[in-house]
Amino acid sequence: MKHFISMQQLSGETINHILKEAESIRKSPITINKQLFAANLFFEPSTRTKMSFEVAQKKLGLEMLDLHTEASSLVKGESLYDTSKTFEAIGADVLIVRHPSDYWIDEIEEEGQLRIPVINAGSGKEEHPTQCMLDLLTMYQEFGNVKRRKVVIAGDIKHSRVARSNALALEKLGADVFLSAAPGFEDDSLHFPYITMDEAVEIADVVMLLRIQHERHIHKAETFDYLSLYGLTRERAAKMKKHAIIMHPAPINRGVEIDTKLVESKQSRIFKQMENGVYVRMAILMHVLKEWGIINENEINKRQALNII
Ligand code: CP
Repeated sequence: MKHFISMQQLSGETINHILKEAESIRKSPITINKQLFAANLFFEPSTRTKMSFEVAQKKLGLEMLDLHTEASSLVKGESLYDTSKTFEAIGADVLIVRHPSDYWIDEIEEEGQLRIPVINAGSGKEEHPTQCMLDLLTMYQEFGNVKRRKVVIAGDIKHSRVARSNALALEKLGADVFLSAAPGFEDDSLHFPYITMDEAVEIADVVMLLRIQHERHIHKAETFDYLSLYGLTRERAAKMKKHAIIMHPAPINRGVEIDTKLVESKQSRIFKQMENGVYVRMAILMHVLKEWGIINENEINKRQALNII
């Protein structure tokens, strides 16, 4: 059985299936008829991912186990693997993990075997698959699918797990992906063309902005003039196509990568993305629990007739 770790492990068919389920859940909520425990292990700060997983778990009827890392045996040197095995032993049915290491899942898999599924809620600067899935749902709601849509991901590409997950998944789904970054923020391991923000606003169907990931920098980056040189100003936004949308995974640094007036503008889908995070995480939890045989169709409270995308 596979843990839910990377967009690269998912086929286009599986991505589309989960997105349809998320849209279906949005229209017609479901619950699980079985006592199950979901453990949330966040080793990095989070507002959106952690809270939307909690809302998703509550809506599905799951019991939550919330690890406070600073008050746990991690401070006594317990490893991530032993912490995960502990949750398995005390009855957790699924683990949600955010960790600053790029490859924490390798640590878990090298040390032994977990008998419960793990969902990646953010791994270093490598992957953020549940964020990517909610971004995709937001684009699908807008355009039906992403085929031949021009998506520009702009910002601190080098230190962003959102950029990597999105760029590779969007390419797999048929989108034309472009990157835009200030000097030094490019990521050579991603093979997509770089364009300026002035070029981006002219061609994009989606402008996806990213904040500067100061916590992953050795030296604090200078942000003076960043907006006018590399960010989405009001002047640039006025040149976007009528149907084009603005996205951002947040947290937002208003006035740095985006003019504050654009955050809640008509073209912005930033808060829609956050709302979609709940439905997508419900769908991912359901998908994983079904794949691992932890629930079956009889343990799901049936919904009304579906009207799926
Ligand atoms: N987008 C995102 O992952 O936000 P949080 O860090 O607040 O979870």
